[in-house]
Amino acid sequence: RKAYPSAVTIFGAKGDLTRRKLIPALYNLYIANHLPAIFSIWCVDFLPSDIDVFKKELLSGVNEFSRSGKADPRQWEAFAEHIYYLQGDFNKEDTYMQLKNEITAFETESKQRGIRMFYFATAPRFIETIAAALYMHKLCNNRNQHRIVVEKPFGTDLASAKKLNQFLVKRFDEKQIYRIDHYLGKETVQNIMAFRFANYVFEPLWNKKYIDHIQISVAEQVSVGKRGGYYDSSGALRDMIQNHLLQLLCIVGMDCPGAYKAETIRDAKTKVLKSVRPFTAAQVFKQVIRGQYTAGEINEVPAVAYRQEEHVAAESNTETFVAMKLFIDNKRWEGVPFFLRTGKSMTRQSSVIVVQFKDSPHKIFKDDIVPNRLIISIQPELEISLLFESKVPGLQMKLVPVEMDFTYQDAYTETLPEAYEALLLDVLHGDATLFMRADQVEAAWKVVMPVLDAWKKNPSKQLQFYKSGSWGPAVASNLLKPYAKEWFRLP
Ligand code: BG6
Repeated sequence: RKAYPSAVTIFGAKGDLTRRKLIPALYNLYIANHLPAIFSIWCVDFLPSDIDVFKKELLSGVNEFSRSGKADPRQWEAFAEHIYYLQGDFNKEDTYMQLKNEITAFETESKQRGIRMFYFATAPRFIETIAAALYMHKLCNNRNQHRIVVEKPFGTDLASAKKLNQFLVKRFDEKQIYRIDHYLGKETVQNIMAFRFANYVFEPLWNKKYIDHIQISVAEQVSVGKRGGYYDSSGALRDMIQNHLLQLLCIVGMDCPGAYKAETIRDAKTKVLKSVRPFTAAQVFKQVIRGQYTAGEINEVPAVAYRQEEHVAAESNTETFVAMKLFIDNKRWEGVPFFLRTGKSMTRQSSVIVVQFKDSPHKIFKDDIVPNRLIISIQPELEISLLFESKVPGLQMKLVPVEMDFTYQDAYTETLPEAYEALLLDVLHGDATLFMRADQVEAAWKVVMPVLDAWKKNPSKQLQFYKSGSWGPAVASNLLKPYAKEWFRLP
């Protein structure tokens, strides 16, 4: 892929995302020679900052969060030469005029019009302001080479997401807009496509005839921590289900796209979302469990209750846990339940997709046979395993379930890039395959809207409390009946 000179602008350069994710990702791309020879990173934020102090802050972020560990001082120096700080109010014209002068000068010097990437790492309330200013100042007016990257949350409900989409597509071409869902950049998530569509052995089984049910579980050990201000008006449904978990559902549930191309893949995923059976208001309280963590212990360290977290209302009913059962109404999945679950302050981090195959219709063995199960571990374990029955060595025909494992650790020596590395590079190369299209985002909001509406009307109805450090409210397992006794988790 050809690398053009690139000017990357980060709005919200003093924020957490820049320090934790964006700069470490750009640094790792740089040391692996993935960035073009000519590039600059314009960091824009409201607060004044001395450039050297600012670079030191970024370096400490790299040292703390980069997957490659502490930065090599010489490489960091060389990388940091490309970083500039621009103090500016997102609401003021001056900011954009100055930015335009800088980028134009950079492009004149590099003697080529290159790629421009504008990354919105800001609070959502600034998205429209910045987008309007970029448009007005003609900073992002080349549909082939200028791109904007919009972080989640993309709207807070269907209406606001639609409004934001309309706002953006009035000013930019859809192909200039990169809506991030960082789960799509995860190595193990990308591998599900390869696993499903490059291996013919599973595809014939991937349907209602052979699959009993599917569990998609993203358990987090972290609490909301310092993010209470954002989280309390969001909740797990908006923060995780509407985007990350529904995207996993799409990858597991989609039909084989006609080609490995952005539009065909996004079409196939959108089709899944549009086929999800809408919840009626009454079904919401039967098929969706919401929970909130109370005080407890995580790894023997006391953990506070959600309601005691900073910037969280003392009587908050915001959910920090969601489990739901949904169906995809199409020929492939008719009648197969998909169970989704996510929560914070849980026992430990564990993101897994479990495909539970049906029991054998004809039994010739006396033992209790455990039906086949495919386990795709996304994080922190990186593996795919298949559970099957095997004869225990000995003089009797005795069967036990065993696992056939593929682990990244055993199979590869390569280190895994961070999701943001893959995604930022894709933006520079103009590849939108792993990004959300407008209709996809809206279709995902449509799936969760009946739940949001029912909960809004009944703010505390059936809110279940669970102890920090547990696997969530016990009733969440009832959802699985009669398909499974409990949520599958790694030992
Ligand atoms: C973010 C959510 O999108 O994803 C966070 O806002 C969540 O609440 C995070 O913790 C999880 O991402 P990861 O990559 O750590 O699984």
